[in-house]
Amino acid sequence: MKHNKLKPELPKRALVTGASTGIGLAVAQGLHKSGYTVDGIARGKPAQVSDWLTMHQIDLSKINTLPDKLRALSLDHSVLVLNAGYGRFGGLEQFSYSQIQHLLDTNLTSNVFLIKHFLPHLKRAGGGDVVIIGSESALQGGPAGAVYCASKFALRGLAQSLRADCAGNNIRVMLINPGPVATEFFAETSFEPKSGEVYSLTAEQVAESVLHAIQQPRNVVIEEINLQPMHRSFQKK
Ligand SMILES: NC(=O)c1ccc[n+]([C@@H]2O[C@H](COP(=O)([O-])OP(=O)(O)OC[C@H]3O[C@@H](n4cnc5c(N)ncnc54)[C@H](OP(=O)(O)O)[C@@H]3O)[C@@H](O)[C@H]2O)c1
Repeated sequence: MKHNKLKPELPKRALVTGASTGIGLAVAQGLHKSGYTVDGIARGKPAQVSDWLTMHQIDLSKINTLPDKLRALSLDHSVLVLNAGYGRFGGLEQFSYSQIQHLLDTNLTSNVFLIKHFLPHLKRAGGGDVVIIGSESALQGGPAGAVYCASKFALRGLAQSLRADCAGNNIRVMLINPGPVATEFFAETSFEPKSGEVYSLTAEQVAESVLHAIQQPRNVVIEEINLQPMHRSFQKK
């Protein structure tokens, strides 16, 4: 049986948001090693400058400027990895309105804008992959997570709907939901996973899931991957 294939002339080129650190940088490295040309988006740059990674310094929370900024980017990506985001935790009434807006714009709305921007080009090119980094917080709400979980649950709905809308265009939409990952994510939080590899995943392990999903034959869609460290235990800082 003949399956849809990415057109051979389609460039092996990926765009990764949040590629300056953590999961995004690990995904960018993994894609590079797999032969992709990689563009990254973040406000900053990786600590170690890498000539294989073209960084575009864009603040994704500045939603109103995004359409213009995105227009300046190349369009010939066949893989989008939408990973940029951050965690802010606490009771809802402890958030200011602008903090709520900032978190939702960064974690959710920017991704909706990015997909809207790139989708017509993926369709014209004959297909592609959209991989969204969700979270365990896309699956289960919990204490002090109201705004963060709202952003991640919404990404799951976005992924499910787009998957249905885009399958006819040979576009796969995949969601990766990690539990705690040892990254800068916990730099500003009041808690962190206990130290030790049984309590947190590494960014590289999450990146392997992303690579696994996009390396499947074109007729296989790994809709979601949920991954957790062996044990869950957090400590206050
Ligand atoms: N670590 C965890 O335990 C965990 C668990 C589940 C899901 N996640 C999700 O994984 C994703 C990556 O997080 P991480 O753990 O790798 O944390 P990280 O090391 O802090 O990386 C976050 C990335 O997002 C970028 N970013 C944040 N705000 C941005 C903005 N306004 N504009 C552009 N880029 C922005 C950061 O770049 P700049 O600061 O340079 O802009 C950085 O590259 C996030 O969506 C997070 O919700 C993390």
